[in-house]
Amino acid sequence: MSQKNIIITGITSGIGTEIAIDLAKRGHKINLVARSEESGNKIKDLITKKTGNNDIHVYKCDLSLQKEIHEFVTNFKKQNNGLDILINNAAIIPNKKIITNEGNEMQFAVNYIAPYLLSRLLLDLLKNNAPSRIVNTSSTAHTGGNLNVNDFQKLNEKYNMRGWGRYLDTKLQLTMDTVELSKELEGTGVTCNAVHPGFVNTNLGRQFTPKFMRPINKLLSLFILSPKGGADPIIEVALSNKYEKVSGQYFHRFKQKDVSKKVFDKEVSNKLSEYTKSIVK
Ligand SMILES: NC(=O)c1ccc[n+]([C@@H]2O[C@H](COP(=O)([O-])OP(=O)(O)OC[C@H]3O[C@@H](n4cnc5c(N)ncnc54)[C@H](OP(=O)(O)O)[C@@H]3O)[C@@H](O)[C@H]2O)c1
Repeated sequence: MSQKNIIITGITSGIGTEIAIDLAKRGHKINLVARSEESGNKIKDLITKKTGNNDIHVYKCDLSLQKEIHEFVTNFKKQNNGLDILINNAAIIPNKKIITNEGNEMQFAVNYIAPYLLSRLLLDLLKNNAPSRIVNTSSTAHTGGNLNVNDFQKLNEKYNMRGWGRYLDTKLQLTMDTVELSKELEGTGVTCNAVHPGFVNTNLGRQFTPKFMRPINKLLSLFILSPKGGADPIIEVALSNKYEKVSGQYFHRFKQKDVSKKVFDKEVSNKLSEYTKSIVK
């Protein structure tokens, strides 16, 4: 396989670190998007040490802020004319409602707006290298999402289930956008798919897990997937020849599966798209 130019978000821990190591091992050019240079460079050093690949690049970007996303893309475009694969993998489950200095709820901003905006801002580079792919790390959690068309960020509602409730919403929004974007991309050679990596032992739930649950979680972690196990289906959808023309699909690990019917609710989907366009700069 020829060398691919790949962007991965959410690389400082869990599934993202393992995606980056695996793809670097295969000799691809890896662009790591990290909240800080320091945390990104730590992973860059680890990857280079483990794989011998020196074509690893770090970009600082706090994905909760559109301003930083624009700065990252501008920077990236100064050094790259094309992009083969964008893996939107970062996500967060904060235990309390945090409003960013741009006025958006943090989880909505990182888990939904960031992949939405990154995919659009990088589309010209993806088209330059078509056939190319966008892979969104979604979750089976999308089935539990419950969107309020009058308040997609639920700014006027209590933060429920220690943030977990909002997580379900953001994964539904991301899965809806995967399907919407794939329609917009028809005929361009750029595909867009969503993958549920499985139930994986990572840092994701650390903030919302109550202290008393932590020993139980440690025990549970012995029975769930390792981060590498979670990374594997995402790598497969990003690289495998058999998915070159597959778009707008949802993978439950390695299996193409129907998404929740909620994803195809036209009225909600149109309103979400309208609302998103109104707040994305
Ligand atoms: N673990 C599971 O069982 C599971 C199941 C289904 C889906 N998923 C999905 O898998 C993906 C990876 O999650 P994970 O389980 O590997 O969790 P994780 O270990 O917590 O990794 C999350 C990554 O996102 C990054 N991130 C969060 N907020 C950010 C921000 N504002 N700016 C830049 N980066 C930010 C984190 O960086 P920092 O180190 O800077 O915080 C970290 O690198 C997520 O999309 C998650 O929803 C996970």
